[in-house]
Amino acid sequence: MVNDAREIRVGLGPRSYSVWVGEGLLARLDEFIPAGGWRKAAVLTDSNVGPLYAETVLGGLRAAGLETELLELPAGEASKTAERAVEVIDSLIALELNRSDLVVALGGGVVGDLAGFASSVFKRGTAVVQLATTLMAQVDSSIGGKTAVNMPAAKNQVGTFHQPVAVVSDIDCLATLPAREFSSGLAEVAKYSLITQEAWGRAFRENTGAVATATPARLGEVVADCAAEKARLVSADELDTGVRHHLNYGHTLGHALEAASGYDGTYRHGEAVSVGMVFAALVSEAVGLAAIGLAGRHRDLLIPLGLPASPTGAVPSFDELAAFMRLDKKSRGDLVMVLLEKEGRPVVRSGLDPTLLEACYARLTAPGSGARRTEVK
Ligand SMILES: NC(=O)c1ccc[n+]([C@@H]2O[C@H](COP(=O)([O-])OP(=O)(O)OC[C@H]3O[C@@H](n4cnc5c(N)ncnc54)[C@H](O)[C@@H]3O)[C@@H](O)[C@H]2O)c1
Ligand SMILES: [Zn+2]
Repeated sequence: MVNDAREIRVGLGPRSYSVWVGEGLLARLDEFIPAGGWRKAAVLTDSNVGPLYAETVLGGLRAAGLETELLELPAGEASKTAERAVEVIDSLIALELNRSDLVVALGGGVVGDLAGFASSVFKRGTAVVQLATTLMAQVDSSIGGKTAVNMPAAKNQVGTFHQPVAVVSDIDCLATLPAREFSSGLAEVAKYSLITQEAWGRAFRENTGAVATATPARLGEVVADCAAEKARLVSADELDTGVRHHLNYGHTLGHALEAASGYDGTYRHGEAVSVGMVFAALVSEAVGLAAIGLAGRHRDLLIPLGLPASPTGAVPSFDELAAFMRLDKKSRGDLVMVLLEKEGRPVVRSGLDPTLLEACYARLTAPGSGARRTEVK
């Protein structure tokens, strides 16, 4: 603990680092920047977050003895591209950053993934600090070192593993987060509550309403519980060859829905994951892994969190989505998903039967499931 900030360690030998969770942390950033002899910090942010928090962050970095530079991207998933990454790298070169300098990601998962990617390839690897300002970033994307940009063909197709040197999650940032973005982050909280055996996961599932009225202190506990779960899985499987797959619950269909929409804003990442989790529950039932009722309990969990339980907007065909799902990084050309035996018991299944998945997709999108049907050419 530094004052009242909670510290979660991601244990990865020489690449270990701390995740700091608490209120008012950006205002005392100098306490959380690890010693590293850094000279200069290039802060990457987006057009929504910059005006709110950049000044505080630049002040904190200066207090830590760093020279500062600010780079701002247009907000939104459409910025998470290889072209934008190249622009960022060009700027780092123009700013004469070197390997003893620091890249600082100030924002949500889009800024974090992009800054992580750019810093991992800039001069073959430059240190990055993640300052997570969305619930999504605080509970998930800022931790674990997965960096990525999207390609038109599919999501997160180009990326690296590059652990940050520190993560700072200031709960106060959540006060300015639009409601839809907060709900999107809650999808990942719900995901942890479904894949973990920890008591907090069950408590969250059983009292979803509590999060709407949670105090910042209570929200901080939720964030810290999720961060601890992520830290545990990342420490056990940094390169995502085993238990870390469990974090992909709901993501096989979720990523396909995002890609099929062309990242046009139809889905926030968490919304697509929410639909993907209901689908995964339907598949878990259909293959006989889970007892009937799991998908219904998913809907009861997700809908009160303001999340969709079936596709929204134009409903893509199963064939279109299956093509994206085969590009999933777990796939060897087959259909692979994380399924659940029941809450708290995730299982990775490969070689899934496309006909069975198509039948589950039909159930997911059936009238009465909440999907709005629109003809897609
Ligand atoms: N690397 C990983 O392990 C990992 C894990 C989960 C998700 N992701 C990725 O994260 C991305 C989604 O992240 P996200 O949901 O944070 O999206 P985001 O970064 O686009 O942020 C959502 C929106 O909220 C705005 N915003 C951010 N913080 C704010 C604040 N405090 N106040 C007001 N507005 C604020 C942003 O400008 C943006 O418009 C996806 O690309 C997803 O693939 C990566
Ligand atoms: Zn996710």
